Amino acid sequence: MGSTYILGISAFYHDSAACLLRDGEIIAAAQEERFTRHKGDASFPGHAVRYCLRSAGISVADLAHIGFYDKPLLKFERILDTYLEVAPRGFKSFAKAAPVWLKEKLFMDRQLHDALAYEGPILYAEHHESHAASAFFPSPFEEAAILTVDGVGEWATASYGVGRGSRIELFKELRWPDSLGLLYSAFTYYTGFKVNSGEYKVMGLAPYGEPKYVDLIYRVLLDLHEDGSFTLNQKYFNYRTGLTMTNEAFDEQFGGPPRVPETKLTQREMDLARSIQVVCEEIMLRMARTVHRETGLKNLCLAGGVALNCVGNGRLLREGPYERLWIQPAAGDAGGALGVAQLIWHRYCGKERRVRPGRDGMRGSYLGPEFTPEEIERDLRSWGAPYQRLDGRIIQRTACLLAEGKVIGWFDGRMEFGPRALGARSILGDPRNPRMQALMNLKIKFREGFRPFAPSVLRERVAEYFELDCESPYMLLVAPVKKERQLPMTDAQDRLWGIEKLNLLRSDIPAVTHIDYSARLQTVSRETNPNYYDLLQEFERVTGCAVLVNTSFNVRGEPIVCTPADAYRCFMRTGLDHLVLGPFLLDKSLQPPWKEDGDWRKEFQLD
Ligand SMILES: [Fe+2]
Repeated sequence: MGSTYILGISAFYHDSAACLLRDGEIIAAAQEERFTRHKGDASFPGHAVRYCLRSAGISVADLAHIGFYDKPLLKFERILDTYLEVAPRGFKSFAKAAPVWLKEKLFMDRQLHDALAYEGPILYAEHHESHAASAFFPSPFEEAAILTVDGVGEWATASYGVGRGSRIELFKELRWPDSLGLLYSAFTYYTGFKVNSGEYKVMGLAPYGEPKYVDLIYRVLLDLHEDGSFTLNQKYFNYRTGLTMTNEAFDEQFGGPPRVPETKLTQREMDLARSIQVVCEEIMLRMARTVHRETGLKNLCLAGGVALNCVGNGRLLREGPYERLWIQPAAGDAGGALGVAQLIWHRYCGKERRVRPGRDGMRGSYLGPEFTPEEIERDLRSWGAPYQRLDGRIIQRTACLLAEGKVIGWFDGRMEFGPRALGARSILGDPRNPRMQALMNLKIKFREGFRPFAPSVLRERVAEYFELDCESPYMLLVAPVKKERQLPMTDAQDRLWGIEKLNLLRSDIPAVTHIDYSARLQTVSRETNPNYYDLLQEFERVTGCAVLVNTSFNVRGEPIVCTPADAYRCFMRTGLDHLVLGPFLLDKSLQPPWKEDGDWRKEFQLD
């Protein structure tokens, strides 16, 4: 008997993606943005679908089922309901949003059939069920509590329940317009960052600020209940009725209009960021405690965009009632593609779930395209790019270059699924180097100097460097750098404000130690990424340090690189010293001059 293939799709909201299961096992998944090179691409994920099918050597005709990650009709009902309720105030955004909904979203079924040339039925799951399935089914737990928190799906903005064996059941939800994701996004907008992608920046900025606005947020914006549920005072928000997140009433309370994007960051934005982060963590903690009280379970699975708040996740692990956390690496809407496919397998097809103790079902999230040495070499020759083929010696050579302070583009194996680079499409550097953070931010990533970098560490060494002794394979937990490694601040240094503190050395791995001594870390094990593991081990042999700086292989505003050509372009456009493409090593100083077609800095809104 042949294998059963199920394709899951998420699209038309943000971050479209496709995922393929073979007999229930996740064998491929990718976000559309990586192929089209448009960050957060929300269009139909045709490239991602084709990639999934190609990687399995099958065609649409071989698919047993196709699933979509939410229910467009329910979502339309919510949109319509909102506009009727607030009309005519909301008419402006209705007029803007309605044609899109009518054209693209309401006729989803026809569109999916046409795009895929597929005549069978398409199965739809509810948005938060897809998130919940993506959180529980691939987890290493036989049973666990499930919590999903995001902006909004159809009606739900957060939900919780239980997963047992091959079943999940959600029994409570928080509903639109009360949404933690949207509250956080309102502050993202207000502090002058881009909604749906700038939330990370707000989180990174938070430690520079003071929680000055926390009381005000509780007093005027939200009525928070003991169980973590809340109502948002819609008087201050504009997301239901307008095209912005906050309004003048909000400006009045928080001391002025939103920061104009790309203008100078001030202490005020830092204090706002800190304040909303504190509130967000409090709500996450309350929600998690409620789910624990009601389920009595010791493991928790998380998904939804808010589960990408790794500072909040770290606190959940340290202060929450759970023994273990598992967070879906593609916690945002891309992961919905994976969730709906697994729902079909377990719920619709009634198939049992096999849990391998201590192992999740994500294959390290290395689920995207890979390229053979022959394919890479063909590309290198066609570009006339000088290279060395090192094969078995590539790891040793790369470790030495890193130890010399070089910054390296590392492209190896299958691309990651989800927003983090995990050592397949990464830029690497030496974390001990005090100049590394500024160098990588300004010369390589072309981004704000305050943004912290994340460390990768050998799994068995994590407790020697950080106050954490469990796996964090997807870089979704923040933990303090080990006490003994921290360098205390003098009184004078302590009195410095905000961004002035940036250049102070805080530990013996300064490039990955945030201003509050925290680090968003990735543990690396040999089972999921042997080459990256070996590189870390070799770096430790050469330097005595089992940690590397790992940042995503892209520049600001651009999706993470997917192909060798994307990697080479990024290498040539930035201050990267070397590029590793599988077994090949490239030296920047030996490359022919790079000719740029068009103004790429403008394209990515770089200054
Ligand atoms: Fe979502």
